[in-house]
Amino acid sequence: MTAVIVAGNWKMNLGPRDAELFLDAFAAVFGGSGEPADGQARPGGCRVALFPPAVSLDAARRRKAQLEESGAWGRAPALELGVQQIHAEADGAFTGETSAEQASQAGATLALVGHSERRTIFHETDDMVVRRVQAAFRAGLAPMLCVGEQLEERKAGRLEAVLLRQLEAVLSPPELRAGIRPETFSVAYEPVWAIGTGETATPDDAAEAHAILRGCLVDRLGEEIGAAIPILYGGSVKPANADELLAAPEVGGLLVGGASLDPGDFAALVGAGGRAGS
Ligand code: 13P
Repeated sequence: MTAVIVAGNWKMNLGPRDAELFLDAFAAVFGGSGEPADGQARPGGCRVALFPPAVSLDAARRRKAQLEESGAWGRAPALELGVQQIHAEADGAFTGETSAEQASQAGATLALVGHSERRTIFHETDDMVVRRVQAAFRAGLAPMLCVGEQLEERKAGRLEAVLLRQLEAVLSPPELRAGIRPETFSVAYEPVWAIGTGETATPDDAAEAHAILRGCLVDRLGEEIGAAIPILYGGSVKPANADELLAAPEVGGLLVGGASLDPGDFAALVGAGGRAGS
């Protein structure tokens, strides 16, 4: 079984200093190198990732290294870092943008691509998403492709059509398909109506959408690779609903916004990932 992934998307929250304090508190939850006390989060085989704002990435990487070197990271899980957004070009006159190469230099190994806030607020199209996935591969970053339907699309019975359009766009170019492996690519299903609203998809809602995505992945990439690509659920995930979401068929991880800003809640979510993965 592929390891469960618990990932936190900090969105436009937590500057460099806040990121350091977060990591100090997160490591402290795991209590050094001793045996875990009852009730403490156990990361198990769970993969853990954080997507800080680009400006906080380097500070997070340095603090993580300091904590590891001093032994304070203890039993806290290995932490992967990612960038929330990348431009398609490697460099140039694109004021305010961050390239995949720059994010990699600052410590990222992952990149969110196509988050619904980018698609809706910043009007990013499927074509732009494809070019950003290409840029991520070019720089050696593993893209996490975000897909999800708006409430009106769901109400109009267009769930499947929207998800397939967003996923197929990325799976269609042969050179992109060739770079896709379970270690280099993941998908996050984030129904737009459940993001930041407190309205969580039910485990059945998540299972329905994840089955559509899995079918497309297997169809386009073959059984061996397509069945192993991680598919995460995101949208108002909290410690209280994490276990039931992770128990839904094909839910291989969580992409968490608001609840990832609190080190205790994020550690509890990592604990849920550890339980699901064991
Ligand atoms: P919330 O967990 O705050 O709903 O955000 C989900 C999300 O968009 C993660 O990328």
